[in-house]
Amino acid sequence: MNPFADDLLRQLAQDHGTPLWVYDAATIRQRIADLRAFDTIRFAQKANSNIHLLRLMREQGVVVDAVSRGEIERALAAGYTAAVDAQGASGIVFTADVFDRATLETVVRHRVPVNAGSIDMLQQLGTAQGAPDADGGHPVWLRINPGFGHGHSRKTNTGGEHSKHGIWHTDLPQALAAIAQHGLRLVGLHMHIGSGVDYGHLAQVCDAMVALVVDSGADVQAISAGGGLSIPYRDSDARIDTAHYFGLWDGARQRIAAHLGHAVHLELEPGRYLVAESGVLLAEVRASKTMGANRFLLVDAGFSDLMRPAMYGAHHGMSLIAADGRALPAAADWAETVVAGPLCESGDVFTQGDGGLVLTRALPAAQVGDILVLHDAGAYGASMSSNYNSRPLAAEVLVDGDTVRLIRRRQTVDELLALELGV
Ligand code: LLP
Repeated sequence: MNPFADDLLRQLAQDHGTPLWVYDAATIRQRIADLRAFDTIRFAQKANSNIHLLRLMREQGVVVDAVSRGEIERALAAGYTAAVDAQGASGIVFTADVFDRATLETVVRHRVPVNAGSIDMLQQLGTAQGAPDADGGHPVWLRINPGFGHGHSRKTNTGGEHSKHGIWHTDLPQALAAIAQHGLRLVGLHMHIGSGVDYGHLAQVCDAMVALVVDSGADVQAISAGGGLSIPYRDSDARIDTAHYFGLWDGARQRIAAHLGHAVHLELEPGRYLVAESGVLLAEVRASKTMGANRFLLVDAGFSDLMRPAMYGAHHGMSLIAADGRALPAAADWAETVVAGPLCESGDVFTQGDGGLVLTRALPAAQVGDILVLHDAGAYGASMSSNYNSRPLAAEVLVDGDTVRLIRRRQTVDELLALELGV
């Protein structure tokens, strides 16, 4: 989806240059509203950690997940704290399978609850934690790998024995023992087994969560359903039924609450669902050429900007905007086109499938200067960008009704060089 009018995007490309990320605040608010049934919505900021989007989330009562020291610092800069809100949820939770030393120090200093994916983390936190407060030791969640997973690509499946994530389900007793030994405080159990929702599979995940609590005897205040909700990247993809999704998890929560004899808080931790559809990436057409049977359109954004097609064979909708406002030909006259970027690398192609298979997309004939719009790029777009080929990070703009705000300026080449010059 592309939430914007062509005229606005043409103007923004002119004002800010390309490549340019553009986000729509109203779409983000709508996606948040879809999930209000959950007690707590915790935004997995790895999907898009721009501080201005985090502030928008905070205004909407959405809390955040952080997976690095940098993401904790971003959350703090956006006004979040580790304090617990009226719903009993901490503003920030740190989720990982390892601590680097700097992150462990930051977590302890700000008393950020830790969602631990390894028993080593519990031991390291237990050793480093400060004195217990009125509530007890440092708050922890346990991220459990239930032994199976699911994902839109093998690279996004985060469960099962080939995944590095989480504490293996049969090790839960040892994790609980480490918590007791170190005087840590258990908040809840968490499961994120991949990206992409399948209801049959989800019922299995919910059952696994109930069984973990019942079998281990753990007394939890909360459970987290993790993230992984898909969005319709293709026109033929159905939108997920969030009420049904909530119903399955709410059922699990109720079974656990009945077993424990007290209320249990239900968190959800989506990244993509909240921001993917709000964002587009604008790129300028810089060349078009025919190579044998293939027509190529080369633009000024590459996989250093939007990595998903090269990394996962991911599909992003595309459209073209004529720079001069001329009418583009009707769909019957479009031609199959390979859309590629400027990087010195053959895999820098936006139309590709799994394993690097080069695909084509039906597009109107374009001229140099026209704008290519890559749709549904708000999640894992800017946040996965790199400086490959010494290309500066692109600018980001947030549109909120009639207001347009630059929320990240374009990086400069001088800023890149400065890291190396004068050391
Ligand atoms: N919670 C945990 C513990 C996670 O590992 C992830 C994603 C999420 C939540 C959010 O998942 P989401 O709701 O966004 O699907 N770069 C890939 C996705 C990698 C996801 C990694 N973990 C992509 O572009 O599709």
